Amino acid sequence: MTSHDLTAPALPETDQRIHLSPRDIPPLPGATVELLGIANDPTVCFSTLAQVVRRDQALTLRMLSVANSPYYGCSRRIDSIRGAVAVLGTRQVQNIASAMALSPAFESPHGPQLWKHGLTTAVWTTQVTRALSIPPLDYVFTAGLLHDIGVVVLLSHAPQVESACLTEAHSSGRPLVELEQDRLGTDHASLGARACSSWKLPERLADLVGKHHDVEQSSALDHRVLHAANALARLCEDRDPGPASLGWEAALATLERLDLDEDEMLALLGARGDVLAEVDGFA
Ligand SMILES: [Fe+2]
Ligand SMILES: [Fe+2]
Repeated sequence: MTSHDLTAPALPETDQRIHLSPRDIPPLPGATVELLGIANDPTVCFSTLAQVVRRDQALTLRMLSVANSPYYGCSRRIDSIRGAVAVLGTRQVQNIASAMALSPAFESPHGPQLWKHGLTTAVWTTQVTRALSIPPLDYVFTAGLLHDIGVVVLLSHAPQVESACLTEAHSSGRPLVELEQDRLGTDHASLGARACSSWKLPERLADLVGKHHDVEQSSALDHRVLHAANALARLCEDRDPGPASLGWEAALATLERLDLDEDEMLALLGARGDVLAEVDGFA
């Protein structure tokens, strides 16, 4: 798959207000757009999906490697796409295809951490929907992968200011979007939504990305699931992710919005090991 990046000549940071036009967001390669379209088509049939996977050697290898990872605990070796789809299910094959298509977009200085955070958020979305006993929600997994892509865009256009915003958000607990708005006149959530639109991804996906810090303004279930998954992913990144941590409280608050009872919330928080194992399977 062609590697692509979102790096662009950094703008002068003396005037810290940055104004990005759609042309400042580099396009994704055509093959990536096609793969993402299929990976996010809720009506896609098994044969189309298998055909697309077979055409892409890297994707085929990744699919087989995930199907054979310890997380799925399969007793026999899976050596065909048909077998992988049988083990993983169509939706999971679509999720892996999304992840494969998008990982090169995170090639940037902070890319590896941002990519792992996106992947962890995406995997948490599947755990949260399972805890709610509902089928996977359309676009939410890909929205998990992409929700912080705006940070990559900002790091390429205003690296010093965005790095300072990230550091301060981490040390002070002040929301990153607020710091970005103060210093850059824009924020990673709205830029992420703009990137999704310019890549012709479904509008709903762009909307999820654009509002991922704005759950108060949305009662939609997919928004709340993504918000919870983001908080759970952050909790996984805490050095001490126990009940005494700030991340724990933040995660519980997002789970309360999903009307889970205490036992369900604790069971979900206990799935951390499974999530990390699944994330490792993707890597
Ligand atoms: Fe974010
Ligand atoms: Fe995030």
